[in-house]
Amino acid sequence: MTTLHAQCDSDTMPFVREFVRDPFGVASVVPSGGALARRVTAPVAASGEPVVVELGPGTGAFTRSIQAALGGRGRHVALEVNTQFTGLLAARFPGVDVVGADARNLVEVLGGLGIKRADVVVSGLPWAAFRPARQTEILGAIAGALRPEGAFTTFAYVHARWSGPARRFRRLLDTRFEEVVVGRTVWANLPPALVYHCRRPR
Ligand SMILES: C[S@@+](CC[C@H](N)C(=O)[O-])C[C@H]1O[C@@H](n2cnc3c(N)ncnc32)[C@H](O)[C@@H]1O
Repeated sequence: MTTLHAQCDSDTMPFVREFVRDPFGVASVVPSGGALARRVTAPVAASGEPVVVELGPGTGAFTRSIQAALGGRGRHVALEVNTQFTGLLAARFPGVDVVGADARNLVEVLGGLGIKRADVVVSGLPWAAFRPARQTEILGAIAGALRPEGAFTTFAYVHARWSGPARRFRRLLDTRFEEVVVGRTVWANLPPALVYHCRRPR
């Protein structure tokens, strides 16, 4: 009940509305909670000028955490297909380059912003809702956009972890990254989720 209460804030209504309108695109009824956001955004370096890319930011659950970690340093680029969410994010996070684009166009979007490679890519994308070809295409774009020593993090809901698309995505991670570490389950999130920490893109 505490988790549910903590995750239901002013972002919940816009999120629920978009979920009802586009259940497969949004793929979650409520935004992620703070505990999951901290785990997913952990690779953002505490020093230097990192380039951080966020895919599928929604109402900004991970965006807030990335902005706090950056504290005005580096670049933060967020790609989101939902125009309700891009408007909300641009108004709320002036320090973020919010781009209304599909994650599969990541390399082109970064090029348009004068960015060659990203240090960190953080995903809020609904991988289990994507067809195989889309999973492959977007993961290829992520691996192509990362620096060789860059990090990619994403999450999966525990209840859907063994579904066909989720298992396929998990196998795909191994083909695209030399190192894939599965973090501990974040039980405090609604629904509970686990984080994949990926390094050394192939
Ligand atoms: C499960 S929600 C996660 C939102 C937020 N990151 C969070 O954790 O609360 C998935 C988000 O990905 C966005 N999305 C879905 N497909 C996308 C794509 N191909 N490119 C960019 N964003 C996409 C949806 O519009 C939605 O905002």
